[in-house]
Amino acid sequence: MPPAVDVDSDRAAVSAALFERAKAVTPGGVNSPVRAFNAVGGTPRFMRSGRGAWLTDVDGNDYVDLVCSWGPLLLGHAHPAVQEAVQAAVARGTSYGTPTEPEVELVEEIVSRTPVEQVRLVSSGTEATMSAIRLARGFTGRDVVVKFAGCYHGHVDALLASAGSGLATFAVPGTPGVPASSTELTLVLPYNDRSAVEAVFAEHGDRIACLVTEAAPGNMGVVPPEAGFNAFLSEVCGRHGALFVSDEVMTGFRASRQGQWGLDGAIEGWVPDLMTFGKVMGGGFPAAAFGGRADVMARLAPDGPVYQAGTLSGNPVATTAGLATLRLATDEVYAHLTRAGDTIKAAASDALSVAGVEHVVQSAGTMFSVFFTDGPVRDFADASRTDTRAYAAFFHAMLDAGVYLPPSAYEAWFLSSAHDDRAVSAVLDALPAAARAAAAAQA
Ligand SMILES: Cc1ncc(COP(=O)(O)O)c(C=O)c1O
Repeated sequence: MPPAVDVDSDRAAVSAALFERAKAVTPGGVNSPVRAFNAVGGTPRFMRSGRGAWLTDVDGNDYVDLVCSWGPLLLGHAHPAVQEAVQAAVARGTSYGTPTEPEVELVEEIVSRTPVEQVRLVSSGTEATMSAIRLARGFTGRDVVVKFAGCYHGHVDALLASAGSGLATFAVPGTPGVPASSTELTLVLPYNDRSAVEAVFAEHGDRIACLVTEAAPGNMGVVPPEAGFNAFLSEVCGRHGALFVSDEVMTGFRASRQGQWGLDGAIEGWVPDLMTFGKVMGGGFPAAAFGGRADVMARLAPDGPVYQAGTLSGNPVATTAGLATLRLATDEVYAHLTRAGDTIKAAASDALSVAGVEHVVQSAGTMFSVFFTDGPVRDFADASRTDTRAYAAFFHAMLDAGVYLPPSAYEAWFLSSAHDDRAVSAVLDALPAAARAAAAAQA
């Protein structure tokens, strides 16, 4: 249960009124559940505009944004060059249902940064992982999918699965509405656990179409793969004729210029069979992708028999935004994200230590999160020990001080190239009181 936090003063009157209207016509008043603030309590802020590192809500409050639309806004809000490119694209027309040049350019940019040989564009990360799994099954002629507890790959039926009872047993649906038949071919394992992976492949190896993993999990908070873990997964999949599907929807072009793969595979010399991308590559618009080995991608329609399609796939406005964003995502941008992130991580840790709040800060490249539990957090069971009550108090103190954190304890904090000294200072100034609020919630 979220704590009863008294947050909603006059500062959120317009948001509160909009939330009431929204609830009358939309389930929970939101179009994606985490936005409802259920995990932290209080009234979700309805945003009116964003510029650079800053958000402005409908009540006129300004916030330093540490969510960045859940990752996509690597360059911050309303980047002038992205806006200009998008406006020019819109002026030409918004969708043709034909191939266009920006699609080719965006895919070429993705291919130049990652090890994938061929890419198909889609409109959401969910579509990307759903399609990658269908392709892996079509390519291998096998049905079983292996995933890790705590990794989120979008709301794909087969992947909304919880671990069954005991190791190497098939999963149960993680939500009503997903039939058991959709998850009974899914195996869910603890993350970073090599022996669990070995055991499941030893028992079911000849039935496994693919193993799908977040390249570095960010959806249970940031839980980096232990050294060599992704290489190990790639090797085990190869040994058993299964495909290794690396989901870089969150980490892609975010954890580093080449995503998480740039931090391990590029150095260690291995390549996923399939990868999925989203968020940053859409530049704030609905664009995502899956890609990989040319011989696997050749199985996709129209060249191959595995069907996959989309009315707005490769939309010219979305691909223009993504291309403009990636072209501006230079080494300097990632160096800046590293510097600003290091400053915020150190200050958050200091403030929480001074206040006496147990915590651990974990990173994957430029992505990081703060767990309200002692560390290290290696898997979902560890992450689940986080003190959500203390986080809720911390979150609301930060919000009141003008810093917009993710409204859930299990999320990465996202920065952008627009998080300049003024924005970072505003975060640092807010931290000590928020840490004391977290400590008070634990008392
Ligand atoms: C790793 C990962 N995969 C897939 C998805 C699903 O993407 P979308 O929300 O665009 O459907 C997400 C979304 O957060 C994600 O983080």
